[in-house]
Amino acid sequence: MDGTSSFLIVANRLPVDRVGETEWRRSPGGLVTAIAPVMQRRDGAWLGWTGAAGEELKPFDNDGMHLIPVPLSALEVELYYEGFSNATLWPLYHDVVATPVYSRVLWDAYRAVNDRFARAAADAAAPGAVVWVQDYQLQLVPAMLRKLRPDLRIGFFLHIPFPPAELFWQLPWRKELLEGLLGADLVGFQRPGGASNFIRLCRRLLGLQNHRNEVQVDGRTVRAEAFPISVDFGELDQLVREPHVLARAKEIRAELGDPEHVLLGVDRLDYTKGIGQRLKAFGELLADGAIQPGEAAFVQVATPTRERVAEYIRLRGDIELRVGRINGEYGMLGRQPISYLHQSYDKNELAALYRAADVMVVTPLRDGMNLVAKEYVSCRYDLRGALVLSEFAGAADELRQAYLVNPYDIDGMKRAMLTAMRATPHELARRMRSLRRRVATHDVDKWASDFLTALEAG
Ligand code: ADP
Ligand code: G6P
Repeated sequence: MDGTSSFLIVANRLPVDRVGETEWRRSPGGLVTAIAPVMQRRDGAWLGWTGAAGEELKPFDNDGMHLIPVPLSALEVELYYEGFSNATLWPLYHDVVATPVYSRVLWDAYRAVNDRFARAAADAAAPGAVVWVQDYQLQLVPAMLRKLRPDLRIGFFLHIPFPPAELFWQLPWRKELLEGLLGADLVGFQRPGGASNFIRLCRRLLGLQNHRNEVQVDGRTVRAEAFPISVDFGELDQLVREPHVLARAKEIRAELGDPEHVLLGVDRLDYTKGIGQRLKAFGELLADGAIQPGEAAFVQVATPTRERVAEYIRLRGDIELRVGRINGEYGMLGRQPISYLHQSYDKNELAALYRAADVMVVTPLRDGMNLVAKEYVSCRYDLRGALVLSEFAGAADELRQAYLVNPYDIDGMKRAMLTAMRATPHELARRMRSLRRRVATHDVDKWASDFLTALEAG
């Protein structure tokens, strides 16, 4: 073989992050959770950044995947990754829940890094290869890559929401971004609304003709379609039945003082996740006397993420202040109502936490999908456990039997948490059975094969 691949994933991040000199661990976030198992089951290569600035590495194999590092300098990490990707696009695409930064310097860096990824992909792809570009950090890559390699079949999937035209319109580089995406043959979104926002923008902003979900560009057809992403249901379902996971789940409850109710949140520490809102609701339930200290324990796992971006620094301060206040007011010596863990865990510990939790609280203000909700469901073969889920997560389209909430409505969230805590085993089982059926039949393999079949057929 000449070292090129006939199937290539191109993502900002590789599925592994460096820890120390020689060790790697799984990178954070839903994109990696979803694509890693797909990649482990296929031949191909994954092109992306190692998560460290200024690191130049040769391609290597890890965890059954062939990985091709793309380097970023310290300045590019600041301008392209922390800047345009996570201070401009991330808040803009999530309903502007934080104010986006519009800066030409950030945009220039975004373009330059996208160009590097496109060149690296052009070098790594075999003739006629399928190249699947991922997420908002690389929206210019499809068009740049097509220019270099018109022989390729190019797919793009956006893991986060695609905003309505009214918001997208704010972006000074709105046309360039759309044109970048249009280099793909198939542009995938989490929800049908994202696909129709995209088609509408192609019409209004670029004056392109469309027929339903297809637009014509330079004599080519580009399709836009929803492919709701998912989790490896089978793997989680098996893992959580393992004796060591069950034992750990018991131990977690004991460590919490065997309260009647364990509530759980698992998120990156991101301002889109509604962590403050859910803790406020829980704090008010204690303040109202609706739940007694010691009766319920809230475990909030908040993975460190994008720690140098201003909004994330502010959020961490806000959340830690809130946790401190609630624990200070309602805690007892050696027992605190909220266990806040600003840490990352391996999948065994996460599975044990899911199994230990009576109520999973997932309350994003906006989220492309939210895999945590689907992971929880996959782990509850015992048909116990209640899922409280925001209407603003993509997962709410599918998980209709969750306790659906509006995270801006604190009273509504308090009611939903109480209802979930008080539900009968029969009611819990009825809901969980339906939730599990959905995730079991729409797992991550189905997501990937639906997308790739559509891409190859198109
Ligand atoms: P996002 O992609 O915005 O981070 P998702 O809910 O879609 O949100 O995906 C988050 C992924 O990261 C899930 O697979 C979840 O298990 C994982 N995760 C979240 N918090 C932690 C943590 N503290 N330790 C390890 N993995 C985590
Ligand atoms: C979300 C995004 C991913 C991103 C992940 C973790 O899932 O959709 O593209 O990789 O968050 O964020 P990070 O900035 O650490 O890559």
